[in-house]
Amino acid sequence: MITCKEYVEIKKEQLKERIKTLSRKPKLCVVQIGNNPASNSYIKGKKKDCEDTGVIFNHLHIENYEEVSQVVLMDMIRTINADPTTDGIIIQLPIPDKYDVEELQTCISPDKDVDGFRKDSYFNPCTPQGVIDWLKYNNYDFEGKTACVIGRSEIVGKPLARLLTDLDVTTVLCHSKTPKVKLTKLMADSDIVFTCINQIEYFKHYDFYSWQDVIDIGLGRGEDGKLHGNIAGDSVDKLKESNYGHLIVSGVGSVGLLTRCSLTENVVYACELHTKGSK
Ligand code: GUN
Repeated sequence: MITCKEYVEIKKEQLKERIKTLSRKPKLCVVQIGNNPASNSYIKGKKKDCEDTGVIFNHLHIENYEEVSQVVLMDMIRTINADPTTDGIIIQLPIPDKYDVEELQTCISPDKDVDGFRKDSYFNPCTPQGVIDWLKYNNYDFEGKTACVIGRSEIVGKPLARLLTDLDVTTVLCHSKTPKVKLTKLMADSDIVFTCINQIEYFKHYDFYSWQDVIDIGLGRGEDGKLHGNIAGDSVDKLKESNYGHLIVSGVGSVGLLTRCSLTENVVYACELHTKGSK
């Protein structure tokens, strides 16, 4: 099995080659409002990926947003959207509460919504797509498998369940309203468990079984300021020992790389669509 890190390096080389065949360089615009420390760090990672592959990175950072209304912000995003050399636009989340995110997202056309957040986007959300692409690259055997996806967010759990279903995986989507006893039973019946909830260190090694592949996707920052997964860190280590020969993926340090990789690929694909026939 090629690790997420190794896979991302291979993909970056492939993207570099794809970009060489285009009539112009792809361009990503990241809109950041405010100064969320986590966002600063995510954006830094996205910038690095763009630089590594040859994608132009444009960072529109509105630090002092007090005077900036929803309408003004919508106008700014519409202006960027109208730029024919911009292939992808993302609004880095979270944004300050005074703005309506969904309304802002409607200012990005579906062919430039590289986050895959709009229902009519040309792209799949980056985290589930990145995870599935990595599994596919490793020729992961989906045939006949049953998966339990825990978490029903619009950008991770739901699209992940759809992608798995499209791959003929029998998939159940569990969430915060799934009774605990049912969740335990559904997890026990699954060959693969994907955790994508909003709570860090919620699961322990004894919540899983020795025959299972376990992929921890959900991330959050702990009181220590560090990133933690949905599964406690020491439990991930215990699972790696006890589920020998099975896939145990800790979200920390791997899923973020896959998400970013998928974002860069979406920008390259958007540029391919936008420049079709111009070379
Ligand atoms: N904030 C944390 N992750 C993401 C992401 O993937 N996209 C956007 N737009 N904001 C985020």
